[in-house]
Parts: sequence; structure tokens; C-alpha cells
Amino acid sequence: DRVISVGLCGFGVVGQGVFNHLQKREKDLGVQLGAKVKVTRIAVRDTSKKRDYDFDESTLTTDPLSIARDPEIDVVCELMGGTGLALDVTMAALEAGKVVVSANKALICDHGEALFAAAKKGNGQLLFEASVAGGIPVIKAIKDGLVINRFSSIYGILNGTCNYMLTRMTKEGASYQDILVQAKKLGYAEADESLDVDGIDTAHKAVVLAYLAYGRWVPYKDILVQGISEVTQADISFAKENGYAIKLLAVIDVAHASGKLYISILPTLVSKKYVLGSVDGVFNAVSIIGDVVGETVYIGPGAGRDATASAVIADIVDGAKSLVQGGSKFVDPAPQGGDLIELAEP
Ligand code: NAP
Ligand code: HSE
Repeated sequence: DRVISVGLCGFGVVGQGVFNHLQKREKDLGVQLGAKVKVTRIAVRDTSKKRDYDFDESTLTTDPLSIARDPEIDVVCELMGGTGLALDVTMAALEAGKVVVSANKALICDHGEALFAAAKKGNGQLLFEASVAGGIPVIKAIKDGLVINRFSSIYGILNGTCNYMLTRMTKEGASYQDILVQAKKLGYAEADESLDVDGIDTAHKAVVLAYLAYGRWVPYKDILVQGISEVTQADISFAKENGYAIKLLAVIDVAHASGKLYISILPTLVSKKYVLGSVDGVFNAVSIIGDVVGETVYIGPGAGRDATASAVIADIVDGAKSLVQGGSKFVDPAPQGGDLIELAEP
């Protein structure tokens, strides 16, 4: 049987989840793909750290670039985070014509244009389902399931940490600091949690969704961003008493009057009668309005080991399928040509 060799760059919350579930389903995947999917190399920062699953320690390296450049590796998973080394690793693997699976929304937001150009040039493939809304296959929904639609708006609760915190502040009156510590322990928060609570992570994800829906990379500086750190118990009580929940809401909207695209990330009063108003805990939700289908809503776990591993593995399997079938790997996921939309003033 053919072996598809997977290199994991990062073996933390997400990397270990991917390893665990790939191992558990190795046989099923083998039957489905007609090829074995095997993790053959793993990059970490600290090789002495205790890990949660048994694995072959001879696969370890502290040099993720060596995985990106390894001719024996077919699929590189960038699960380290950040936009420094992660960029070099992703670029090198795409230039070498590999399938790259990324959960790194900061990287795709900041460098998406260059990364897709490198993928095109090197005939690599960049897949990034896990970068937005954790376990919800919302990227597949936009680029495949809704392909015939033009979108008037996308509203999203896109950060699991913030929704978890706001929910517990609302339901239990728990303290902001205590819940943030808990969100970190549960593996929901970013290594630098200010990315979560300051709304930056939500903005990164909104940029990725806007690219998929409209084919435009919206510069981060053009987005109005406010996080949840100033939400008080008084705000929460006011919302509750009036039938609302406070959600950190991403609004990606095409203004009716100007036809221009804008993005904002703001703590927002959302009616409890609207589906997004009742999406609680680490769950995310995305409402998409398309001209052909109308409104579709996607709800599911937005962060955490297993949910994110589910999305990363979906991409690994897609990449493996394209390798088994052969032919060109590069795919640009966004709408091509036509009437690319104008950006609104921030
Ligand atoms: P994490 O638990 O902090 O894991 C990061 C991993 O990368 C660790 O194994 C670390 O090694 C390794 N690493 C970091 N810098 C390295 C370097 N210079 N050289 C080699 N290895 C390095 O982070 P995570 O939560 O899994 O997140 C990883 C990525 O997934 C991020 O882009 C994040 O935004 C994204 N993501 C996370 C979630 C989630 O729920 N956690 C959901 C969706 C997307 P050590 O273990 O030795 O420190
Ligand atoms: N820190 C992110 C969140 C991880 O809480 O949503 C998932 O992207």
C-alpha cells in the first residue's frame, strides 16, 4: 500500500489531537483512501517535555524547516502558531510542492496572498479548515457547498475562548480572570491570550472568511476591532434583563447603499430569539446569507484539541486524496476574476 507521510510541525494541543485520531482511525482511512496515512516526523521546541500519547521518539526534531524540506514528507501540518518560523515552514513546504495543512489564522490573514502565490508557483496545496471556527467545516461550506452564491453578509461568533468566557460570566457571574485561566487550561486560548480577548483572533478569522466569500484580502488595519476585556457584569445584567446576550460578533457585510465590503469585530447585543444569541460556551456559530440559498447557519465547537483535530484531519484526508489521484495540486479557494468587491473606509 502507498504511504502518505505526514510531518507534524507542532505537537501541542492540536498536534497531539491530530496524532491521536489519525492513529485511532488508521485502518478506516487506509480503506477509504487506498493508502496509509502515517505521521512519520514531528517537530517540537522541547524534546524532553512529557506528551499525552505514546509515540516513536525517534520521529522528533527541533527543526520544523527540515520537515518542510524533507522529500519523504507528503503533507506538512503547521500547528506551531505565530507568523515567524510558521511562515518560513509553510512557504518552504508550498514551494516544494507539498500539501500544507494549517490551523494558523494569524498566518493566513497576514500572509495569505503570498502563500497562495507560492502554492501556485510550486504546485503545492494550502488547506486551512481548522483556521476558522474550530471543528465547524465552514470553509468547505463557503467554497464548495455554497459555491453558486453571492454573499450579502457573514455574521460569526468565531472565538471559542471569548464565547466560553462571556457565557460563564453570564450564567455563573464567574470572574473574567478565573475563566481566562480555565480557558487556557482547556486548550482553548492562544499561547498569547490577548489575541483572543482583544478580538484580534476573531479579526484574523474574519479576514479568511471574507477572502473565501469575496476574493479580497481585507487589510487588518481596515477592520474595526474591539475585544471583550471591557465587558462588565453591569453590561451583562443589562443584556440579560432585556432578552439579549453579549457576543463577540464578527460582521462581514456588504453595505446596501455603497456595495462596499466592511468588517467589524465588536462585543454585540444579540437577541436571545436569534439563533446566534443562544450559542454558548466554547461553541462558535456562523450565519451566511447567500443570494441563491438564503441564510444558512453553522454551529459547533470552535476550539479545543478534538474539535480542531477533526478539521485538520479533514484537510489531511483531502490532501491525501489529491496525492493518491495525482495531477495538479494547486487550488485557489476564492472566487476568481469577475466583479471583485470594493472595500469600505474603516
Ligand atoms: P500549543 O499547544 O502551544 O502547541 C504549539 C506546538 O508547537 C508545541 O508542540 C511547541 O513545542 C511547537 N513549537 C512552537 N514553536 C516551535 C519552534 N520554534 N520549533 C519547533 N516547535 C515549536 O498550540 P496549539 O493550541 O496546538 O495551537 C497551534 C496552532 O493551532 C496555532 O496556530 C493556533 O492558533 C491554532 N489553533 C488552535 C486551536 C486550539 O483550540 N488550541 C484551534 C484552532 C487553531 P513544545 O510542545 O515543545 O513547546
Ligand atoms: N484561541 C482560539 C479560540 C482557538 O479560542 O477560538 C480556535 O481558533
